[in-house]
Amino acid sequence: MKQRLLGHTLSVSAIGLGCMGFSHAYGAPTAPSEAIWRIRRAVGMGYTFFDTAEVYGTPSDPHDNERIVGKALASCRHEVQIATKFGIVFDTSSGTTPYPLITDSRPEQIRRSVEGSLRRLQTDYIDLYFQHRVDPRIPAEDVAGVMAELIKEGKILHWGISEVNEAYLRRAHAVCPVAAVQNRYSMMARHYEALFPVLEELGIGLVAFSPLANGFLTGCYGRDSSFNSKDDYRSAMPQFQPENLAVNQELLHLLQIYAEAKGATCSQISLAWMLCKKPWIVPIPGTRQEGRMAENAGAADIMLTADEVSALDQALQSVPMSAVFGGTATKA
Ligand SMILES: NC(=O)c1ccc[n+]([C@@H]2O[C@H](COP(=O)([O-])OP(=O)(O)OC[C@H]3O[C@@H](n4cnc5c(N)ncnc54)[C@H](OP(=O)(O)O)[C@@H]3O)[C@@H](O)[C@H]2O)c1
Repeated sequence: MKQRLLGHTLSVSAIGLGCMGFSHAYGAPTAPSEAIWRIRRAVGMGYTFFDTAEVYGTPSDPHDNERIVGKALASCRHEVQIATKFGIVFDTSSGTTPYPLITDSRPEQIRRSVEGSLRRLQTDYIDLYFQHRVDPRIPAEDVAGVMAELIKEGKILHWGISEVNEAYLRRAHAVCPVAAVQNRYSMMARHYEALFPVLEELGIGLVAFSPLANGFLTGCYGRDSSFNSKDDYRSAMPQFQPENLAVNQELLHLLQIYAEAKGATCSQISLAWMLCKKPWIVPIPGTRQEGRMAENAGAADIMLTADEVSALDQALQSVPMSAVFGGTATKA
């Protein structure tokens, strides 16, 4: 697969694999042995960039996802780039899903987190270490200071921040240069385009999470789809609610028109749209299925001209669209 640069020096596959769904948020977890096998298949398809987090796990193993990713990639560790995250815990005592997030970026907690992640990932360095959510109690400068120390110690090579705004990003970047932000970005969630000029100015990449609007933009889910409210966050996501399927028909139709014209799929058009917009955007679609990994990887070879991207942008401004899942509540 083609490679892209995040920041000035981190080279990753143009499309990364979001590994969260193997353990968390999308229904019953995949058996670890099966997940490991599928991640290795992704390496065979050219993915070199893999995204996980300390908190992606199952009720029986809250850090299961890092263990799976570590085991899957141990034999090719130096040929791939691993992103993981610190700074939140899920409030599983809340009794509600999605679980609310409790932020914790105290320096001593970051230190504990990095050691745990290194152990579970079976590695002595993390390529890209993300603050999962900003902790309102801890100044950006303090978090960036810990990142600078971890880089000096060789425990992390680059760092980034997830769901970050301009003010925090600038303060953090001034202390220790940020390679990438990881924000929600898809055709249904474009609010972070407001951050693009800052990313361009500072030379920071965008790792786009939930780039398929949690799968909705693939056009594969409709009236017959059902999601278990116990462990599948899609059961409560607005874009999948029956009353919104009709609202979003025109959007899916728009994608189908481009898909037919390019000999592609809706998923591929959704990803190619952002890839062709900026050379520093790297989407990380999550899938547990081999065929879909290959399909999503194929988006890196689909070319949309600048005119086609802006025509799509314009159409997206006016096409009817339901609300889309915007993430879970955060508590400090
Ligand atoms: N930083 C953060 O706070 C944050 C938050 C959320 C996610 N993330 C990261 O971003 C990654 C991606 O986000 P996401 O998984 O929430 O959303 P997403 O990538 O937009 O969508 C994932 C969903 O789409 C389905 N899917 C993927 N490719 C498909 C295809 N070609 N055809 C049909 N269905 C397809 C998957 O189902 P199957 O698995 O059944 O194929 C899954 O249900 C995660 O894995 C995680 O690493 C980060």
